[in-house]
Amino acid sequence: MNLIIHSTPNDERRSLGGALALRLAKHLGGSTRVVRIYKSPQRYFAYEFNDRWMKLVAAAERLIIPVPVWNFSIPAALKDFFDKISQSGKLWRPGPDGKSIGLLKNRPVYVILTSGLPFPAGSPEDFVVPYIRLFFSFLGVRDVRDFRVENVSKSRQLIADKDYMDRKVREMLKVFGIK
Ligand SMILES: Cc1cc2nc3c(=O)[nH]c(=O)nc-3n(C[C@H](O)[C@H](O)[C@H](O)COP(=O)(O)O)c2cc1C
Repeated sequence: MNLIIHSTPNDERRSLGGALALRLAKHLGGSTRVVRIYKSPQRYFAYEFNDRWMKLVAAAERLIIPVPVWNFSIPAALKDFFDKISQSGKLWRPGPDGKSIGLLKNRPVYVILTSGLPFPAGSPEDFVVPYIRLFFSFLGVRDVRDFRVENVSKSRQLIADKDYMDRKVREMLKVFGIK
């Protein structure tokens, strides 16, 4: 099962990352579930864990995370999702010497980073992908791959541009190492 974690109120018709995530899931094959964080009935920012999300994440063979850069960081809803799945004893547990032990089996995490401006890998501004990498390594998942799309301002128009989308899908599959 592919699990898409969608963190903005814009659905796939209005979110470039969301549209690319769906195309990626189709290429990967198998079934696909989408977590729409904004539609969760759970109180936003409540400090409580979400069992359903933890079970979905544990069951997913692959995670696909479209992430728009919002004010140099991830959307708050995605952070809220991370907070709600990081229950000790579920996806991680305390280990010796104050260290933690991730309880998730390794699996690919495909991060699709969209931004208005460039965030080149390794630049001083590039902390979204390293943060997501760190979070998943804490849960035991080391296979985090990233594909970046810059100069994204009018997502709806880009999604409607078939040549642009086909080109981006080809680039994405290449970067992710998918045939
Ligand atoms: C609240 C908000 C904050 C944003 N902050 C940034 C930013 O700090 N840097 C940047 O390059 N783009 C920024 N953008 C532009 C978005 O990254 C861009 O529109 C987004 O990648 C499109 O997302 P999509 O994949 O859902 O279509 C911001 C957009 C919004 C709505």
